Amino acid sequence: MEKMRAIICTRYGPPEVLQLREVEKPTPKDDEVLVKIHATAVTASDIFIRGSQIPIQFLIPMRLYIGLTRPRKSIIGLVLAGEIESIGKDVKRFRIGDQVYGLTGFGLGAYAEYKCMKETDSTHGCLAIKPVNTSYEEATVAAYGGLLAFQYVEKGNIQHGQKVLIYGASGTSGTMAVQLANYLGARVTGVCSSTNLELVKSLGAEAVIDYTKVNTLDPGVQYDFILDAVGKAKTSKLKVACKKALAPKGKYVSIDDGSLMLDSKRLASIKELVEAGHIKPIIDKCFRFEEIVEAHRYVGKGHKRGGVAVSIARSS
Ligand SMILES: NC(=O)c1ccc[n+]([C@@H]2O[C@H](COP(=O)([O-])OP(=O)(O)OC[C@H]3O[C@@H](n4cnc5c(N)ncnc54)[C@H](OP(=O)(O)O)[C@@H]3O)[C@@H](O)[C@H]2O)c1
Repeated sequence: MEKMRAIICTRYGPPEVLQLREVEKPTPKDDEVLVKIHATAVTASDIFIRGSQIPIQFLIPMRLYIGLTRPRKSIIGLVLAGEIESIGKDVKRFRIGDQVYGLTGFGLGAYAEYKCMKETDSTHGCLAIKPVNTSYEEATVAAYGGLLAFQYVEKGNIQHGQKVLIYGASGTSGTMAVQLANYLGARVTGVCSSTNLELVKSLGAEAVIDYTKVNTLDPGVQYDFILDAVGKAKTSKLKVACKKALAPKGKYVSIDDGSLMLDSKRLASIKELVEAGHIKPIIDKCFRFEEIVEAHRYVGKGHKRGGVAVSIARSS
């Protein structure tokens, strides 16, 4: 029986519940591919899933899916980028050697050297060919931040020249949302803290506001679309003020409204925009697989800048 390394989470708790172990390497079924994972990510969602800092409104619904008293799937991890190592006999979309990226959804299991995935989209994941001009680590940011940004920016039906405010412009989805709104022709204002103002400007925001220094917006300023890209658990006096600055026909959307759609067609669109240079995944830090506890501690502080990736290196 072949073995692989994986990060095991057998109970909810602090980062230290995560342990590196050897487990059985999976074998793909007829309609599955086996992904040799080169990079995964530690996202805001992984922190909630591991079990600390979970906003109370999400606690019961999330635990119903992932396990009431302990994780039903001991290998967690939502995001992966890697290479197809083998395929089942019914697989049509992928070939051995394809470089792919995607999300594992309720299937979890991305904190491992290998993961079997269906080629079709479901609540257990979506997979697509990764952008050729990114590393595997950057591809994890494009997958998670990109899918979130695409789904929620789309809700704004942005028209050229409209004023768009992205609250939480410096996180994984925020950095992607600023770039996407800018690409769609919006005049973007990004809200972040002092340390990230320059980054957000460099992503195409024409204006930036520091939520740690400013509590109100200039009177008369109105936005056609406001996206809260950090979610309902993170707020400030400025966020409350932003909600009142909607144009009469404007729309306010939170990234926590509804569930993330796992959609490989969207991943394919993100790939095109990244390859054309319109969107660039922003990496804050890369950790080694063995440093997963440290990576969770870092992301758990709630201030990552872009995304945090985890490289899975092998000796052979
Ligand atoms: N709908 C769904 O199914 C779904 C799925 C997954 C995730 N989500 C939501 O998406 C959210 C965003 O995830 P993410 O990974 O993109 O974000 P994130 O990376 O966790 O956000 C980090 C960023 O938040 C900023 N931040 C922290 N506190 C803030 C505050 N009070 N006001 C404004 N910005 C603040 C930080 O900037 P500074 O350091 O500058 O403060 C940092 O850049 C998650 O938290 C979750 O709520 C929803």
